[in-house]
Amino acid sequence: MGEKVTVRTIRKLKGRRRIVMVTAYDYAFARLVDEAGVDAILVGDSVGMVMHGQGSTLPVTMADMVHHVRAVAAASPRALLVADMPFMSYEASVEEAVRNAGSLARAGAEAVKLEGGAEYSDRIKAIVAAGIPVMAHIGLTPQRRNVLGGYRRMGRRSEEASRIIRDAEAVEAAGAFSVVIEYTAADVAAEITDRLSIPTICIGSGPYCDGQVLVLHDILGLFPETPPFAEKYVDLSSIVVDAVKRFVEDVVEGRFPREKHYFFSKRAGEKG
Ligand code: KIV
Repeated sequence: MGEKVTVRTIRKLKGRRRIVMVTAYDYAFARLVDEAGVDAILVGDSVGMVMHGQGSTLPVTMADMVHHVRAVAAASPRALLVADMPFMSYEASVEEAVRNAGSLARAGAEAVKLEGGAEYSDRIKAIVAAGIPVMAHIGLTPQRRNVLGGYRRMGRRSEEASRIIRDAEAVEAAGAFSVVIEYTAADVAAEITDRLSIPTICIGSGPYCDGQVLVLHDILGLFPETPPFAEKYVDLSSIVVDAVKRFVEDVVEGRFPREKHYFFSKRAGEKG
């Protein structure tokens, strides 16, 4: 096991080698992705969709996030543990943002991620001032899908591209230690990566970034549908279905349990 990854490690990786972040939401998978050597584990608000079957990230609550952050923290990962601030946990006021970031830190998060650009500079500043590192998230911000008009490609037109670049500069100035750029034109992500001194971690925004992040369930092929920018590295669905099918058949046919799976009492040898 290598050295613990901190926000300082992540910052220092810029320009040296690409950074890798994946999501995890529970103890078992946190251990596995950590063993695989990721730099950061994100307890994303995607938890609502992939673990709870919700249609978007909007229903995810602070209680949900705290619950899953605790489970991931129990794995004591070497990777940096980043937790998403869910919808409506930071929008209403700076005070609420700091308090909720604090609850995630208490649950074991070593940094928080929040969606939004220049408009949330004051939240980022205040959370960092409270001692909690912030990873920003710009470009497509799924919590704002209703104002954006859905999960759409961002930064294709110059006005929107310029706004995303301004957001990147604003979150860096506010004190974010890195920034996720989601579903944004690759040339725009490249320009941001060049301009900023903090690392950019991209999803669906091309290869010219300091790092990449994907949702674990997409990598593992746990759902038939994956976003166009994700890569399925294994078809875990069929592996799981096959294993459980074999268990069902073994029970029905009387092949499970086998001798090594059970024991008898010592009643026959007992005295009076
Ligand atoms: O919630 C999440 O999984 C995320 C990633 C897609 C970056 O924010």
